Amino acid sequence: MHKHYSEELIEDIRISNDILAVVGEYVRLERKGKNYFGLCPFHNEKTPSFCVDPGKQLYYCFGCGKGGSVIQFIMEAENFDYIEAVKFLAERARIPLPEGDSEEEKTIARKKQDLLKINIEAARFFYEQLMDLKNSQAREYLNRRKISPNIARKFGIGYSPEEWDILYRYLRKKGYDDDILLESGLVIKGKNNGSFFDRFRGRIIFPIFDVRGNLIGFGGRIINDGSPKYMNSPETLVYNKRKNLYALNFAKNSKEKRIIIVEGYMDVISLHQYGIINTVASLGTALTESQGKLLKKYAEEIIISYDADSAGQAATMRGLDLLNDIGCNVKVLIIPNGKDPDEFIKKNGPEAFKKLLEESLSLVEYKIRILKKDIDTNTTDGKISFLNKAVELLSKVDNNMEREMYIKKISKEYEISEESIYAEVLKRVKPAKGFRTVSNIEANKLKNVRKKGNSEFEKVIECERILLSVLSIDNSVYRVVKDRLNPEDFEDEKDKEIAKEVFSRLENNRGIVPAELINLVGDGLSDIFARLIQGECNFDDNNKAVMDIIRRMEMYRLDKREKEILELLSTSQNHSQEDVEKLKLELKSILLKKKSK
Ligand code: CTP
Ligand code: MN
Repeated sequence: MHKHYSEELIEDIRISNDILAVVGEYVRLERKGKNYFGLCPFHNEKTPSFCVDPGKQLYYCFGCGKGGSVIQFIMEAENFDYIEAVKFLAERARIPLPEGDSEEEKTIARKKQDLLKINIEAARFFYEQLMDLKNSQAREYLNRRKISPNIARKFGIGYSPEEWDILYRYLRKKGYDDDILLESGLVIKGKNNGSFFDRFRGRIIFPIFDVRGNLIGFGGRIINDGSPKYMNSPETLVYNKRKNLYALNFAKNSKEKRIIIVEGYMDVISLHQYGIINTVASLGTALTESQGKLLKKYAEEIIISYDADSAGQAATMRGLDLLNDIGCNVKVLIIPNGKDPDEFIKKNGPEAFKKLLEESLSLVEYKIRILKKDIDTNTTDGKISFLNKAVELLSKVDNNMEREMYIKKISKEYEISEESIYAEVLKRVKPAKGFRTVSNIEANKLKNVRKKGNSEFEKVIECERILLSVLSIDNSVYRVVKDRLNPEDFEDEKDKEIAKEVFSRLENNRGIVPAELINLVGDGLSDIFARLIQGECNFDDNNKAVMDIIRRMEMYRLDKREKEILELLSTSQNHSQEDVEKLKLELKSILLKKKSK
């Protein structure tokens, strides 16, 4: 199924990573019967609908519908692709992977090590330059920005002198060749052949560490009024600005439940200097999903504190939605008078900043505040438009207490009865996706299978997937299936393929368990199969349930053929008399078969 690793190896890795233990590293789980429940890490919820079944080694969320084996869980939680997730789990279980030894991978690993070493050499060099007597203007700059020597040392801040290639020459002397220096991003190739120069010149240097403390890249701020103000390392084998956050290596140790995210290096450094060390910054880009997921690993709540200008406000909105969508609790800290956190804390001190922190707005409060700013609520039209939009926002709050609180506030402010706001909100609330208690659905209740659409086609697809799921839960059912059904009878093309594999395994006594089935079905379908295995497949009598499904699948095929024939007959002028007779005969036999079912 997957090019890289054999099925056996993947299965070995899966079995060696107990799903309860792995998920337990991300989600607090509580036992309920034979399953465990917790708050879903993949969507925002306040009552647990995320379920782990240690027996079947599967997870499934009844709220957002995500599900799968431990491999899909790691893909989702770590934002990995399939191979990355397998590698991650192999490492976790200390299972050696064959490809780790391939020449290509060895070369890349060696190169990465070299790049990390070069970065450390460079950071030392920049630090020495900052301390060098002749570079007093750099130290004066830090002084002016009120960065203490202590915090400068903690963050490894340095200085790149206003010279053409001083770092390049230094690193060459250390024995690194041009190719690897170019790849480090610290050196740029000049237009004249064979000339190289330093990327960072005349800048305060901020080393960037990943969460494990590897020095992966640099940011540099110009100390004169030049442009661009900031310059950063380009993407390299070790530096990916979309996957890392500045100062997370420090912030993750703060023991705080929340992490504050700000825009700039300077903001982070100031806040850390004043003891607010649970602060990180994105690296000159809009917050990405990878960064959100990284944050979620280390914080229960994330506070966005971006600049109050319009760009900052747009970034705040995007960040709020992004973090909320991946299931983070998120708030907004607003700095008054258009200041950034760095300026604010230097002017007003840490206590004033902590006060702002306590006054942070929830997502809904923030959005309502922005609405109010953008709409003139003094006019009747404005007021109606504001209230409509506010009600729309409130309908998305899934916590009743929280919702009531906002309704009270708005009611007071606009002198509209709580009841009528409430009624408007309720109109817009989507029916709760709630918890379905799934207990002993009888085989004959199969008609009630959950269905997205109502078409017969969708129902029969759901049925054939239930059949495959039941087969993985109870391999003995195959005895009933093998003589009555073959993979070609499956309606969905993908199901056909899966059925071929499942049937062949069972035919050859190789067996299959639910988590293997999930891995087999692959991306896109794993959620659906996890749901079916977790819910619909809870039959008292698997054989009976499967017989029912087979009958249903056959009925569907008969119906389909019947319609086809009727269609053909209604345009009979093009058929020979012989053909028509044949079709009529077939139709008769279909009707007979249907009757006998
Ligand atoms: N940034 C960047 N390239 C730029 C400008 C900004 O990469 N040309 C990134 C930097 O990471 C910077 C952040 O965006 O820290 C925020 O920009 P800004 O608010 O301008 O920087 P400050 O940190 O406030 O810098 P300063 O206080 O030194 O002006
Ligand atoms: Mn600033």
